[in-house]
Formats: sequence, structure tokens, C-alpha cells
Amino acid sequence: MDSIWIQGGKRLEGKIPISGAKNAALTLLPCALLTADKLTLSNLPRLADVDSFGHLLNGLGVSTSVAGVKKGEFGRRMTLQASEIASTVAPYDMVRKMRASILVLGPMLARAGESTVSLPGGCAIGDRPIDLHLRALEAIGADIELAAGYVKATAPNGRLPGGDYTFPVVSVGATENALMAAVLATGRSQLFNAAREPEIADLCNLLVAMGGKIDGIGSSHLIIDGVEGLHGADYAVMPDRIEAGSYACAAGITGGSIELVGARAEDMLAITNALAQAGLIVEFCDAGIKVSADGKLRPLALSTAPFPGFPTDMQAQFMAMLAMADGESFLEETIFENRYMHVPELRRMGANIEVRGRSALVHGVEGMTGAQVMATDLRASMSLVLAGLCAEGETEVLRVYHLDRGYERLEEKLSAVGATIERRSTG
Ligand code: UD1
Repeated sequence: MDSIWIQGGKRLEGKIPISGAKNAALTLLPCALLTADKLTLSNLPRLADVDSFGHLLNGLGVSTSVAGVKKGEFGRRMTLQASEIASTVAPYDMVRKMRASILVLGPMLARAGESTVSLPGGCAIGDRPIDLHLRALEAIGADIELAAGYVKATAPNGRLPGGDYTFPVVSVGATENALMAAVLATGRSQLFNAAREPEIADLCNLLVAMGGKIDGIGSSHLIIDGVEGLHGADYAVMPDRIEAGSYACAAGITGGSIELVGARAEDMLAITNALAQAGLIVEFCDAGIKVSADGKLRPLALSTAPFPGFPTDMQAQFMAMLAMADGESFLEETIFENRYMHVPELRRMGANIEVRGRSALVHGVEGMTGAQVMATDLRASMSLVLAGLCAEGETEVLRVYHLDRGYERLEEKLSAVGATIERRSTG
């Protein structure tokens, strides 16, 4: 197994190209199921989750081909074609490995009239149910059955009629599944209290490019008028706001200055506001966003919330950075239970953090020290990389497969701005 080895204490300076967004890619890929035509996605990040999603789609009868990448280009271009749906079952083995597999439920149901997906089961950041996915699909007209660890959704007359649904809690995945199902319905659907994350707008924009009819894009009230069929499209995945935010924290924690090339300011205002409040200089330029340290980091009070609030996917990285701030920070996690798994590991590196339920008090320290650490999820692993970048001595981050799920060429990008970091095979 590989690990990431870091010699801390280097000030990072330079440019980092921001990859296509993982969470957007994982909802754009299943759109291939909605048409018999070719769907080409560019700026796809090279990530383990994207590969896994490709394999899942292959098993359902979608052909995938990856076009060559030019030298110096990070993204990938993939053409997908579901001339026919060969199987309407997403098996346990795939869904267990990647929770986002549930996102084939809606589009497969819309195209084939039925869809069977294994229930995802537990996950490292708490119990993540799919009840809202199922209730939204039911409201659009699906019959839902649960048996033997699988959910089977059926469109009674082959096509869904459409319908209205108000989400009791904002859910990114459930909004995505409902959108992909509603777009081929015979009638109109309305989603109220829909998630407004930029990845949802990216999905809507692709569906519109494929011939879908959606109003209210970017708002919490989406109106979808079903169409008879969708056609192919050529579409570029949006930049990854969480990757960009993570590297911004790398600038902060190392007292450095990093230009996040390709980052989109409008997707990241809660993040850039928090960076500015922490005392960093944030400059918006044509190429992206430049984040530079300016003296000591200031402490913050942050609470995670659905977009446009502060993203839960940035909580761990900010916590690592604030561990080095001049004072006491307060963090509150409102989206997921059990999302402080990085805290004991950060403590082992010298951070002073107290957790009480869903809140955490971070008492800034003067410095951290390197250690062998591991985390149980993607963003938690990144918080340990960040701590390692500023820690004195060597840090080894184990279980690199978490990082490989969400950070494209992490070592290469951080080395290019001056970090001493490498991947080592531990056999
Ligand atoms: C997506 C992102 C993930 C991010 C999260 C919140 C992807 C692939 N993943 O996850 O990185 O952290 O949004 O921004 O895009 N919930 C229910 N029932 C459901 C669905 C969700 O109760 O059927 C709850 C969840 O337990 C959680 C909250 O709703 O407390 C939000 O979850 P949701 O927005 O659905 O997260 P994901 O789509 O799984």
C-alpha cells in the first residue's frame, strides 16, 4: 500500500491548476444513461472514483472510451454511449465501494422504466440514508420496493408521470437523482428546497445541453418539464471548488501564496470569505484566485451549511489550518454526524482541539510536529496532509486511497509549489 510522505516547514508559493470537480463528475457521468447518443465529458479529473463510476456504467451496458491527453493537461476527455441498457441492476460490490453509485438510480429508471440499486450501507462519516432519494422519486411517480438489500424503482407505465416534491432536508444527491429522473417524465415536476450547490447547476446545464427543459437553475425551486428523449452533448466539468479551497488552506498553513488557476470565485464565496476572515489576502484574477498569507492566522467561528453556506467538505481542512491560528476557533458540523475523525490524528501532531458533540473548539498552537497518521475519509486525509506541510519533521499519511478518490496528482501539484512530498510504496 502507498503512503504520502511529507517533510514539513516549507513555505509554498506558485500556481496550482485546479482539476474538474469530483462531485460534479460523479453526477454528470450517469447522464450517459439518459440517451442512446454519445456523451462526451471533458475536464474530467483523474480520480479513483471517476474510474469506479466508469466501471459501474460499463456493467450497465455503457461503453466508455478515454481520449488521449495532451502533455501538461491534467483533465481527461471521456466519451460514453449507452446505445442500450444491458442491465438495470447496480450490484452491492460496486455500490459498497462508492456511495455515489446511488446516482444511477434516477437516470436508469427514467430511461429503462426500472432500476435496481444495492442499498449503500454505512459510511465513515456517519449514517448516510437514501430515504430522500426514494421519496423524491416516489413523488415523481415511481413505485419503490425494498428487498434483500436492494431498492427497486419502477415507472408504472414505462415512463414516470412527473410530480412535485419538497425536500425536508437539503440533499445534494437526492436533488441530483430526482432531476435525472424527472427530465424524461411525461409531465412537469417541481422540486422545492432543492440543493443549490454549484454541482447541481452543472448537472442542470448538462441536461439542458442534452435537450432537457429546466427552469430555476441555481435556485432552490427547480421546474422540470419532461421531454420525449435527450440527445448527446459535449460538456466540460466545472472546476473543483473543494480542491481549490484545500490548496488555499495549504497557502494559509504554510504562510505562503498560491494562485488557484481555474478556480471559480462565484462557487467559493463562503470559502474565500472565511479565508479573508482568517487574515489571508484573497485576490480574484482572470486566471483564478490567489490566496496569500499576511502574518499570523486569525481564529474563526464557522458552521457548515448547505450552499451558499460554508461546505462540510472544507471543515477538516480549515480545522487543520486553524490549529495554527493565533487564538481559539469554534467549528460546528451541521450536515454529517461523526465528521471529526481527523481530530485524534491532528492531536497526535500537536494540535489542541476539543470536540463536544457536533462542535469543536480549536485552541491555536505555535507549531505542530510530524507523525505517522491515517484518516478514514477523503477530506480528513487532506487535513492531515495540510498539518504535515507545516509540521516540524516528517509526516507519513497512510491509507492514501482516500486521497486518490478526490485529489488529482496531489504530490505533483504540491511539489510544484515547493512542498517536499512524495508517494512511497510500503509494499
Ligand atoms: C454530497 C457530496 C459530499 C458532500 C455532501 C454535502 C457527492 C458525491 N458528495 O453528498 O461530498 O459532503 O453532498 O454537501 O456529491 N440525507 C438524508 N436522507 C437522504 C439523503 C441525505 O437524511 O436520502 C442527509 C444526510 O445524512 C446528510 C444531509 O442529508 O445529513 C446532506 O446529505 P447530502 O447532501 O445528500 O449528501 P450527499 O449527496 O451524499
